[in-house]
Amino acid sequence: MDKQKLIMLPGPTNVSERVMRAMLRPVINHRGDEFTELYKGVLDKAKRLFQTQEGAVVLSSSGTGGVEAAVWNLIRPGDVAVVPVFGEFSMRLAETVELAGGVAIRVSSDFGKAPTLEQLKSAMEDHEKVKALFLVHNETSTGVAVPYVEEATRLARASGAFAVIDAISSLGGYAIPVDRWGVDICITGSQKCVAAPPGLALLSVSDRVADYLKGSPPKTRYFDLHRYLEYGAKGQTPFTPALPLYYALDEALEELLEEGLEKRVERHDRMSVGIYDGLAMLGLKAVAEKSVRSKTVVASYYPQGVNDSRFREELAQRKGVVIAGGFGPFAGKVFRVGCMGQINDAYVKTTLRAIGETLAAFGS
Ligand SMILES: Cc1ncc(COP(=O)(O)O)c(C=O)c1O
Repeated sequence: MDKQKLIMLPGPTNVSERVMRAMLRPVINHRGDEFTELYKGVLDKAKRLFQTQEGAVVLSSSGTGGVEAAVWNLIRPGDVAVVPVFGEFSMRLAETVELAGGVAIRVSSDFGKAPTLEQLKSAMEDHEKVKALFLVHNETSTGVAVPYVEEATRLARASGAFAVIDAISSLGGYAIPVDRWGVDICITGSQKCVAAPPGLALLSVSDRVADYLKGSPPKTRYFDLHRYLEYGAKGQTPFTPALPLYYALDEALEELLEEGLEKRVERHDRMSVGIYDGLAMLGLKAVAEKSVRSKTVVASYYPQGVNDSRFREELAQRKGVVIAGGFGPFAGKVFRVGCMGQINDAYVKTTLRAIGETLAAFGS
């Protein structure tokens, strides 16, 4: 088996041995009492992460399934949705709205920046009957986090629209108090700041959404959130759950709550400052403007002349540190470092040293 490398990707991220071991627990009947106990515990912990007293579900799918679920449950043909677009994942979100028959009003900014709250406000005001706002909190493709989730959510609610936040690469590294801010659906993925293996999507679902779905069933079976809520109330999932991943998620959420959300958020703050400062000391320029830079995904330009794939290959093979490349217009020009989950001083130091030494070997 390959030696475990330090996974500094913007997800999946490093998973503790305790969480990995949890997956070795026995296969059980997913319609039996043991699973009910497990799933009720998972939902309870997930609700504490979301800071909600309302609904939550866990889907056996990656984050994209969570996004699909949010869109297909809320959007009906002809519905208008406002979607800030500032990178790959927000672009995909707008396309998903269109695939569901909706009209996506894109509020765009250059990659590396974020649309302003004023732009968002104008888009909401310029269109009658906006059904939903779909906001990516943290654009993993560019390392940009919007600083106005609460304000945007209130804006959506004030106009009668649903507020959906894709916090796939941020929740746990950031706090998003779903009930207090009025978020209708908040989506996160198991493989990011929760520090579980990839394969599960966690969603908070407001009572407002639950009521809406009772009168307007969505055109999807696998992602029908109404069914997930109904089954969830009995401690079950409508379809066969990815059992080992539920064991792992249960343990990862336990770890998160043992540390405490506040402390975990503060640790992400501190570690991201270390990464940004360390890269700046190496003479590297961050992609994101300071006011919108993400603390869970650090994107940085390469110095002139460094070949992206060769650099990352060298970093992985010689230093055992795995980082990601850039997306779309940033492909080849940018690398991205995850600052998620288990991130600690030792990981930051190892990563910065490895990047510095590898750049030196490349003559930069
Ligand atoms: C903001 C955001 N949205 C959606 C996704 C898609 O998630 P997944 O790759 O788990 O399907 C990602 C993945 O990195 C993401 O960062």
